Amino acid sequence: MSDQTIDSGKRTWLIASGCAGVVGAGFAAVPFVSSFEPSERARAAGAPVEVDISGLKENEKLTAEWRGQPVWIVRRTAKEVAELPKLDPLLADPKSQRNPDDFTPPYARNETRSIKPEYLVVVGICTHLGCSPIDRFNAGPQPSLPDDWAGGFLCPCHGSTFDMAGRVYKNKPAPDNLRVPPHMYLSDNRILVGEDKAA
Ligand code: FES
Repeated sequence: MSDQTIDSGKRTWLIASGCAGVVGAGFAAVPFVSSFEPSERARAAGAPVEVDISGLKENEKLTAEWRGQPVWIVRRTAKEVAELPKLDPLLADPKSQRNPDDFTPPYARNETRSIKPEYLVVVGICTHLGCSPIDRFNAGPQPSLPDDWAGGFLCPCHGSTFDMAGRVYKNKPAPDNLRVPPHMYLSDNRILVGEDKAA
C-alpha cells in the first residue's frame, strides 16, 4: 500500500468522523420531524448494519461502514488465536480492562476480544488520533515492526501496533485497544453491527 493511499484513507475517515459530529448536532437541534426519509436518517443516526461473512477466508478482512466508521471483520486462523495469550506481557491492556464500557462490550472481554474466537470485529480507527491502521497479518520481520512480530495492525501515523485481537502494544502512543462495536450474530454467516440485543 502506498503512502498516498494510506493518507487518503486516513483523510476519508477523519472527514467521516467530522461529518458524523455535524449530523449529530443537527439531530439535537431538530429532535423530531415526521417526514424524515427513514432509511437515510436511520443510517445517519447509526442504524445497525447487517454484514454477510460467508465469503470471508482465513486471514482476510472485510470492511463495513457503521455510523460513518469502518468496522473490520477479520477471520483469524486457529494458530493466530492460539498465539494471543502468549502476547499478554507485551500488551498495554491485555484483558481489555481499560475503559471497557467504551471499548469492549462484556461479551468481548476475553482473550480473543470476540464472540467467536475465529472472527474479530473492531472499529478500524486508531485510538491515538484517529488514523486508519494497516493490516500486517503476516508474522515475522518486516519494515517498521519488530522481528518477532506475531501479526496484527500497524498505525502508520505514529507507529502504534495492535495484535490480531486489536489489543495495543505497550509503550505506544495509542492509549486503548481498538474498539469492539456492539454486534451480534444473526446466523453463522451474518453479523449485525450496531446492536447486540435481540428485539
Ligand atoms: S493516530 Fe495511530 S499512532 Fe497516532
